[in-house]
Amino acid sequence: MANVIVIGAQWGDEGKGKITDLLSRSADVVVRYQGGVNAGHTIVVKGQTFKLHLIPSGILYPKTDCIIGSGTVIDPQVLITELEQLKKVNISTDNLFISETAHVTMPYHRMIDKASEERRGSHKIGTTGRGIGPTYADKSERTGIRMLDLMDSQQLQEQLEWTINYKNIILEKLYNLPPLDPKQVIDEYLGYAERLRPFVVDASLKIYNAIQRRRNILFEGAQGTLLDLDHGTYPYVTSSNPVAGGACVGTGLGPTMIDRVIGVSKAYTTRVGEGPFPTELDGEIGELLCDRGAEFGTTTGRKRRCGWFDAVIGRYAVRINGLDCLAITKLDVLDELEEIEVCVAYEIDGVNCENFPSSAKKFSSCRPIYKTLPGWKQPTGNCRSWSDLPRQAQDYLKYLEELMEVPIAIVSLGPSRDQTIILEDPIHGPKRTLLHADGSPASLLTA
Ligand code: IMP
Repeated sequence: MANVIVIGAQWGDEGKGKITDLLSRSADVVVRYQGGVNAGHTIVVKGQTFKLHLIPSGILYPKTDCIIGSGTVIDPQVLITELEQLKKVNISTDNLFISETAHVTMPYHRMIDKASEERRGSHKIGTTGRGIGPTYADKSERTGIRMLDLMDSQQLQEQLEWTINYKNIILEKLYNLPPLDPKQVIDEYLGYAERLRPFVVDASLKIYNAIQRRRNILFEGAQGTLLDLDHGTYPYVTSSNPVAGGACVGTGLGPTMIDRVIGVSKAYTTRVGEGPFPTELDGEIGELLCDRGAEFGTTTGRKRRCGWFDAVIGRYAVRINGLDCLAITKLDVLDELEEIEVCVAYEIDGVNCENFPSSAKKFSSCRPIYKTLPGWKQPTGNCRSWSDLPRQAQDYLKYLEELMEVPIAIVSLGPSRDQTIILEDPIHGPKRTLLHADGSPASLLTA
């Protein structure tokens, strides 16, 4: 039995979908613990492509229970569309469960998200516009609507009448937007309630019971470490906690029940939306990474900003999440490059810095210090073992491992399941940072 958290070690879009899909095969339960319809993963079923935002991809495995935990925010309209899409291709959703304490995204959340971004002008965050920030803001302000409230028609009507009248003041007076009709919104959401009722459960209890029965639980983080509300590049972050610690809060589970934390990182770096990005590449190489990596957002279709691998944020992700090992994805995207740069440290105000600075001002002014490695200039998409990889690609991975001080357990070389090299069992292999007796880090790949 192992309870494993999979997190993004960069700014999201690291390829967690493929890694969780691989690990879901041996999981009895897959739990999503934060975020909402800002996340997205693409799945291909019977030749048809679906973009799912809320339902974990574990839904493809009929014996795996999929739980949307209490730390998530749920847009019922989008969730119902996903349910319909799956129904059309006869994928059962009988194994889907939704936490009764997850918060619900309302129309005014989406409106306020878009309007406040416009108001921010050059200070905008670059949000996905899906109402995520305002839904979490209401949760903190204690004016949020939970799935429990949605299930209780009287409670929903009372709560929404008051809340919509209050939000209308904000919509009209602050943003010059038309007010919402409370009755119309209430009727719409009462309809959603009926469709979603069969899925709503006490998710914390369900997960706890599964653990007691020694089931394998996979906790799936959306977004990535640097988008974490508390530990990311604030204010250019999302409004939840994608870090490993978020899995406990977002499911109602104690930290002693977690066995492993696996980080997923691209072999380079991408970021969507605004905010500092020290290793960003504006020119030809940035374009090449974008083209070869098909770097366009699943949710908004926005082009992702691309740059070199940044070991400073990598090490930070190892520390903040307590990573046991890493999965490096999209190594094949680097196949054509003559030389590859890796950021090993920053120079901030003339001083070398190996640690991620919390100050956004410092982070935006930092200059990356690079080490240049030779490229391998040959395709790796068909490599199926460590020895199949060109020597320069092996050296690149060894170097990343050395810088990050955690073992690389998985290397992904393309979107399909078989384009994967498993170097070490990520669940039962060596745990946490490997250290020699003298305290220096030992590498699995160099051992
Ligand atoms: P929000 O989560 O829509 O409020 O957006 C806040 C920031 O997080 C923006 O920079 C978004 O581009 C970013 N973001 C949100 N979800 C994702 C994701 O799934 N991948 C990458 N970036 C994301």
